[in-house]
Amino acid sequence: MKSKRIAVVVSAALLAGIAAEALAQQKPENYVRFRKANQQVVAFHMRELAPIVKSAKPDIAEATRVANVVATLAPVFAHGFPAGTGDGDTRARPEIWSQPDKFKQAMDRYIGEANKMLEVARSGNADGMRTQFGTLSKACDSCHDDFRRK
Ligand code: HEC
Repeated sequence: MKSKRIAVVVSAALLAGIAAEALAQQKPENYVRFRKANQQVVAFHMRELAPIVKSAKPDIAEATRVANVVATLAPVFAHGFPAGTGDGDTRARPEIWSQPDKFKQAMDRYIGEANKMLEVARSGNADGMRTQFGTLSKACDSCHDDFRRK
């Protein structure tokens, strides 16, 4: 009984070891690719959302589908910045790592506004969608001003 329990603990530790190794093996350039791909997909959907929220009678189902992509990818983006991924073919500024609290604030603001965008899209409120689209876009721009190279 006891040896069985030890075996379980040992195999769990082995699995954790394998997972840690897999993480460590992710190359820095993969993070850069992942960040850019994430942002390209987000930007594509923001461009889709723009004409929807500007219409007098927005298509609620379509607004919800598109806003859901942005709200889903925002917290995913937050995992794209481990230490050691600031070099190479990237526009990420070193302030991301030298001012982590400020960067986290910008990321949290973005995630919050993206979630609000999804809520208001679901509600179907046309004025609310327009306003929230502007607020969300400002969260993008503000982070780019501080943390993305020109
Ligand atoms: C918390 C910070 C932050 C927020 C918020 C943010 N971005 Fe970015 N964005 C970045 C950084 C940093 C890069 C540079 C990534 C790199 O080159 O490694 C970037 C890159 C980009 C790129 C260029 C991708 C490429 O192929 O090089 C686009 C487009 C983009 N963001 C769009 C957006 C849009 C649209 C939003 C809002 C819906 C947004 N971003 C929100 C930080 C942010």
